[in-house]
Amino acid sequence: MRYPKWAANNRYIEAVARSTHNLLLTRDCDIFQGCGETTNSTSRFTYKTMVNKITVVGAGNVGATAAQRIAEKELARTVVMVDVADGVPQGKGLDQWESAPIEGFDSRVVGTNGYDETAGSDIVVITAGIARKPGMSRDDLLNTNAGIVKSVSEQIARSSPNAIIIVVSNPLDVMCYVAKHVTGFPRERVIGMAGVLDTARYRSFIALELNVSVKDIQAMVLGGHGDTMVPLISYTTVSGIPVTQLMKRDKLDAIVDRARNGGAEIVKFLKTGSAYYAPSSGAVQMVEAIVLDQKRILPCSAWLDGEYGMKGLFLGVPVKLGRNGMEQILEIELTADEKAALAKSAEAVREPMSVIKL
Ligand code: NAI
Ligand code: 2OP
Repeated sequence: MRYPKWAANNRYIEAVARSTHNLLLTRDCDIFQGCGETTNSTSRFTYKTMVNKITVVGAGNVGATAAQRIAEKELARTVVMVDVADGVPQGKGLDQWESAPIEGFDSRVVGTNGYDETAGSDIVVITAGIARKPGMSRDDLLNTNAGIVKSVSEQIARSSPNAIIIVVSNPLDVMCYVAKHVTGFPRERVIGMAGVLDTARYRSFIALELNVSVKDIQAMVLGGHGDTMVPLISYTTVSGIPVTQLMKRDKLDAIVDRARNGGAEIVKFLKTGSAYYAPSSGAVQMVEAIVLDQKRILPCSAWLDGEYGMKGLFLGVPVKLGRNGMEQILEIELTADEKAALAKSAEAVREPMSVIKL
């Protein structure tokens, strides 16, 4: 059921939920969805919250799939898709909305070519840009996508000055820098999605090799989103068991290598585009952590200001995601090899950063 029957207003629900159920409700939520029966104060409630508006810029493969996942999870009352292509966001938005009665979601999906409808967004996911084609590196995308992300960021800063931005466009860590530089938003509100995807690929390959559930693989891939990414073997466990006890080192090294090349592996199959199912899942996991104030610890690209001995760049590190965006960077212990790999990865991010003109 959608609202608890006894709910006269949201304030009342919030007060009751806080006092009797010790629930964490987010400050901006305007709808509470009740699951379970309501009047018995000892019953357990699961309250989902949704924000008012989430915008996805870019209605291509990643953007449209992300918008659909956001709507299906009812993370926002309105999901707006923006794209420069005439008719594409409108058509995809309408098509998604027409799936609502079947899928049973109430998030309203709309598509547009302008920013008026995006005004006051709580979260903006940037997926605009061109995708990799076979033989292209992520850095080949640099100049075209820097121009696109710059113009998108200017519009977001004007129309949604309080938004939290999740960047997906490549080259990821550099596009995060473009978005932060252009919007002037604090680092808590500009976060990049790559580590969640790279880690998911790594976890999925380990699960395949060991024939165990993906749910039991805990892992973290840090560093830039590129060939220099840093899967942390020392933090990879299977239900708490160090993976090195379950797999020979050469197998693990092959998996690390496959994860590093996970994006290229999909590009090679698709030929005309790059991955989008897992990337959109990654972005939406971050959106969900923010909307629901989950305080999840996820590998995300964050602006470093001294953490890990580095300053002035975006790099994949473990962060805590909650309603305020990037709420904390966790500085974990690394082996000497991992530290060296992270430093090398940072160099691979700094180099393209130094050539773009903003
Ligand atoms: P796509 O080509 O399917 O979609 C991109 C969309 O951006 C197109 O619909 C295009 O019209 C639109 N666009 C271009 N300029 C725009 C502008 N100024 N404003 C609004 N929209 C604009 O590409 P796909 O597969 O959706 O990938 C999007 C981006 O995400 C690419 O840069 C890709 O490399 C990146 N990516 C990043 C990943 C990551 O882990 N960070 C994973 C997968 C993709
Ligand atoms: C990926 O890793 C292309 O960056 C994109 O799939």
